[in-house]
Amino acid sequence: MTPSKPAILIILGSAGDLTHRKLLPALYNLFLDQRLPEKLAILALDRKSMKEEQFHNSLLEGVNEFSRRGKVEEARWDHFARLIKYKALDFTEANSYSQMAEFIKTQEEIWNEPADHIFYLAVAPTFIEPILNHLAETRLLSDHGRNRIVIEKPFGRDLKSAIHLNETLSRVADESQIFRIDHFLGKETVQNILALRFANSLFEPLWNRTYIDHIQITVAEQIGIEQRGAYYDHAGALRDMLENHLFQLLGMVAMEPPTSFDQDEIRNKKVDVLHAIRSIPRDQVAEVAVRGQYSDYRHELDVHPQSGTETFAALKLFVDNWRWQGVPFYLRTGKRMAQRMAEISIQFKSVPHRSFPPSTTDTCLPNLLRIRIQPDEEITLQFQAKEPGTSFELKPVQMKFSYKDSFFKTESGSLRNSFARYF
Ligand code: BG6
Repeated sequence: MTPSKPAILIILGSAGDLTHRKLLPALYNLFLDQRLPEKLAILALDRKSMKEEQFHNSLLEGVNEFSRRGKVEEARWDHFARLIKYKALDFTEANSYSQMAEFIKTQEEIWNEPADHIFYLAVAPTFIEPILNHLAETRLLSDHGRNRIVIEKPFGRDLKSAIHLNETLSRVADESQIFRIDHFLGKETVQNILALRFANSLFEPLWNRTYIDHIQITVAEQIGIEQRGAYYDHAGALRDMLENHLFQLLGMVAMEPPTSFDQDEIRNKKVDVLHAIRSIPRDQVAEVAVRGQYSDYRHELDVHPQSGTETFAALKLFVDNWRWQGVPFYLRTGKRMAQRMAEISIQFKSVPHRSFPPSTTDTCLPNLLRIRIQPDEEITLQFQAKEPGTSFELKPVQMKFSYKDSFFKTESGSLRNSFARYF
């Protein structure tokens, strides 16, 4: 569906890595899918002074490299780029916000129509609070129906600062205006966890402590911190990945069935899981957590030469509720790992009794359900089969669902179900 209301998207921090790698490629794909409003203006703001053309070129590089559709078609890109204006502004100065207000006013006069205004805060955590205060003072958030804020992680640095940030947000805006973003939730394979669990009757009866031995959630990246040392060295793997992306995955795997497909209902069910996570006493942290750092990390740009920031983090957690009592959840994530791979692996318990002689079951492995999030988007189920031949030997085999094989790409690049081809 194409949204019908005009919109102005204001990106604060538009020269950063997030805009380059994620936000702009995503917006460009929405543009190709005709999911953006017909009347749309994007105001890209950052401190760096540069010409609009230079800014467009850097965006183009990002889209060519990171868009799921690969390189852009020039004519379509030109059309899209015309929607984007760049302006160098200092977010700490009050005057910058009257310039934003002026831009909005002029654009609405051109359209002769009021628009929705979305303020996307793609900035370092230290800027968030001053920006929120300035937006509120300039009354840029006062229309609850039309003004929205999108806020990125890390959400504060610890519990105290996260509570403080939440208080500031609720002082300047209504909850309905606030969008706390986690881009992992936009991944097809992540959304599919809900379909797998709650649109099939097969898995849910087994989805508990009686049948599941343990669950592993892994997000391994091959890239290092790239040019993001100034941010990353203050965040680390725990705040950058684990407390947001991996916890979202944990929430979706461990939540109870929602009563409806309603955003608040799904959020509440995930929050129940978070509330049930057993807290870790300070003196036991070393027993359940591991931190690591890749070898050249301290030579990266903007990283302290003696930095103790972790680029790898692993945690063993327990969810203290009826369903998951005693089932360990292993979460791990790291940069500069041997391979890029994000996966949830659900290992079932071994059979209670082995009917076959030990010699036939030497190669037996427990049932394993693997939800591969990236790079290959697939789900595999491992089970035992009899190896063909006169002797009776068991070997693990795999049943596989792959997005690539089950859904095909249309000319516009979107996915369709291959099954639909036959109708
Ligand atoms: C971001 C982190 O949120 O997610 C990055 O800040 C990380 O450090 C990225 O590289 C990983 O996301 P994806 O979608 O590329 O796996």
